[in-house]
Amino acid sequence: MAKTFKIAVLPGDGIGPEVMAEATRVLDVIGQKYNVTFEGTFANVGGAGIDNEGKALPQTTIDICKDSDAILFGSVGGPKWESLPPDEQPERGALLPLRKIFGLYANLRPAIIFPSLTGASSLKEEVIGGGFNVLVIRELTGGIYFSQPKGIEGEGRNRIGIDTMKYSVPEIERITHVAFQAARKRGKKVCSIDKANVLSSSVLWREVVIDIAKQYPDVELSHMYVDNAAMQLVKWPKQFDVILCENMFGDILSDEAAMLTGSLGMLPSASLAEGSFGMYEPSGGSAPDIAGQGIANPIAQILSAAMMLKFSCGMVEAADAIDTAVETVLDQGYRTRDIFQNKSGEKLVNTKEMGDAIIAALA
Ligand code: NAI
Ligand code: MG
Repeated sequence: MAKTFKIAVLPGDGIGPEVMAEATRVLDVIGQKYNVTFEGTFANVGGAGIDNEGKALPQTTIDICKDSDAILFGSVGGPKWESLPPDEQPERGALLPLRKIFGLYANLRPAIIFPSLTGASSLKEEVIGGGFNVLVIRELTGGIYFSQPKGIEGEGRNRIGIDTMKYSVPEIERITHVAFQAARKRGKKVCSIDKANVLSSSVLWREVVIDIAKQYPDVELSHMYVDNAAMQLVKWPKQFDVILCENMFGDILSDEAAMLTGSLGMLPSASLAEGSFGMYEPSGGSAPDIAGQGIANPIAQILSAAMMLKFSCGMVEAADAIDTAVETVLDQGYRTRDIFQNKSGEKLVNTKEMGDAIIAALA
């Protein structure tokens, strides 16, 4: 009997439903090819949750996610909901609670420039030529964004704003394992980012990372202060394979790495819990400026589905097949508008046509 994976499908707002349609079509094809069943259950999230069920993250959606092997997430938000109180808005009201409820402590964001798209990068051809592929691994549930005490105390000019950066050994250990295990399957290098010359949490971070690294003698470990890392990423990004960061450093560096590729519509992400559960979503947002036109790039969503196959379904071969199919269609010149450079050999396509091309390349 075919193996079944239950997937909570949360398309969200704006281009979310448009790109999600292509990702689920790709999953259907993968299911036939590898003899597995993906049982997708659709649920409202973000603005769609607010409009249909009165909340950015309705209880029915949480229940569907709890009953699933993985969450495939589109993106949420848009001008329509911007006047709501912050905690009720699509992003804060849905994304942060999902991370918390499901313990999604490991955020994986590959920043990839495919060789045929190097012209899209803001970096010079000499620096970026031949493409690059960096994986930023960000700790997502600890550090300065969550540690107590936190808040504003006092009155008037006597007010003080407080944030605390705390990391426990187990928190550092588990994210370090994720980084080394990922590196083992790629370029076998981990660069751990910290500020150990100033921050105590970073001193502990570095000690624990060095300790865990002993279990992975086949992977090379290096350390870099975060300020230097920000510089090195634009200077020579190809020196990196896996970049391991605490929460805030990873927030900043993963956006920097993403922008080096010049094309937000191409970049997937995974947020993983202990075990095999995870949430998979494009790095970009709901793109209200192009929503409803059927021209969004579905590749980030499709590559997010590939990450889901790899991390939540154990289907590494199928995930690689999707990655290869994407590279193939890019080499064939297929371009949605965001990556169209008006070069000879390029074919401008819409969302569905890009999905068709990837499906054809898979067959
Ligand atoms: P955005 O990522 O939605 O758009 C930035 C630019 O990139 C736009 O020009 C957009 O057209 C383009 N873009 C993004 N994805 C694309 C795709 N797949 N294909 C082609 N072009 C694409 O970021 P922005 O404009 O700052 O935010 C718009 C809304 O999305 C806001 O409500 C924001 O809160 C929300 N947002 C949601 C996120 C999520 O759901 N995880 C993440 C980031 C923003
Ligand atoms: Mg960010």
